[in-house]
Amino acid sequence: YGDHRDLHLSLRRQRQMCIRDRVCMKALILSGGHGTRLRPLTYSQQKQLIPVANKPILFYAIEDVIEAGVKEIGIIVGPNKEQVIETVGSKDWNAKIEFIYQGEPKGLAHAILVAEEFLGNDKFVMYLGDNILKNGIVEHMEKFKALSPNSPNSLILLTEVENPQQFGVAELDKNGRVKRLVEKPRIPPSNYALVGIYFFEPVIIEACKNIKPSWRNELEITDAIQWLIENGYRVEASIVKGWWKDTGKPEDILEANRLVLDEVNHNVKGEIANSEVRGRVVINEDTIIRNSIVKGPCIIGEETTIENSYIGPYTSVGRGCRILSSEIEDSIVMDYAEIVNAGRIVDSLIGRNVKIMKSDSLPKSRRFVIGDTSQVWL
Ligand code: DAU
Repeated sequence: YGDHRDLHLSLRRQRQMCIRDRVCMKALILSGGHGTRLRPLTYSQQKQLIPVANKPILFYAIEDVIEAGVKEIGIIVGPNKEQVIETVGSKDWNAKIEFIYQGEPKGLAHAILVAEEFLGNDKFVMYLGDNILKNGIVEHMEKFKALSPNSPNSLILLTEVENPQQFGVAELDKNGRVKRLVEKPRIPPSNYALVGIYFFEPVIIEACKNIKPSWRNELEITDAIQWLIENGYRVEASIVKGWWKDTGKPEDILEANRLVLDEVNHNVKGEIANSEVRGRVVINEDTIIRNSIVKGPCIIGEETTIENSYIGPYTSVGRGCRILSSEIEDSIVMDYAEIVNAGRIVDSLIGRNVKIMKSDSLPKSRRFVIGDTSQVWL
């Protein structure tokens, strides 16, 4: 009877811990930084708000943590904080969201220190707001929340990449335990890149307080996790299945767009007149497609007009756009852009309110009004 009672009590304790964990697990999503590699788009727009398949990149992170059961989210905001607050606030989320101002982006570990009060003494998942993950984080969250003694002090996500020099890289021992982490090494110890999603117990705050800024003058999260390893804490890795994208550069955003569009479901709501719509295509309300060809996978936002044009695969067109007598493929066209008589456009990121049009006036030449660090290929 005694054994049975013990078992019963321990099961009850486990259940209580589960409930407590579910209540206490928080999320810290990073939406600060300058996004210099995405200029000029990031002069006027916070990088995590750039749309992929017509949804701000940041929303994918928020949806993933909510899907994993998180009820309290802190979002780190930086230079364009009002934009992030307004965009996130434009939607109802099934979670409490708090914004935490970082000021200067002094590193991922610095962001944790800035959020110390919000994090309190709770476990949390840190999610870099420019990362997109095919399969979400539910499976990894379960692994991290495994009951003691199976739960690690930190769980990092890894994936094999061809260019590990551009990421944090993990060296694993023969049992798959994390031995060492290095940030953007010239000679990588493995092909395992650190995905920008990390699970932590509150001891990470102490780690962040004990490290020094790196050569790029940032408090690196890799150094803080390395501190955990060196001080006897258990750091484990979970391998990511399915694609993952860090959207730091224009080509990464276009690739993320292709990956997300590959999974859209056909849903046509707008008005289609004398046009051919092929493959999986999303066309939103009050959009008109006239005398055109639209080839999926692609998405076209609300109140957009497409006339005498070709919209090719892997294209996202925002709301309120006008595309007339032009062809566009494998590109992102953001809200209220106008493309008229522009020939064929491919592999492009076209910002909000941009106008690209052919002029028939003399002298026959090209004219530009474009901002700093814009890029044009003719
Ligand atoms: O994406 C995965 C990689 O992310 C990891 O492999 C690296 O180990 C990790 O250091 C990080 O590298 P990045 O160089 O890509 O980090 P980045 O500076 O682009 O910052 C990541 C996100 O966090 C980005 O959305 C901006 C935001 N951020 C960044 C810093 C430095 C902040 O909100 N505050 C900051 O202080």
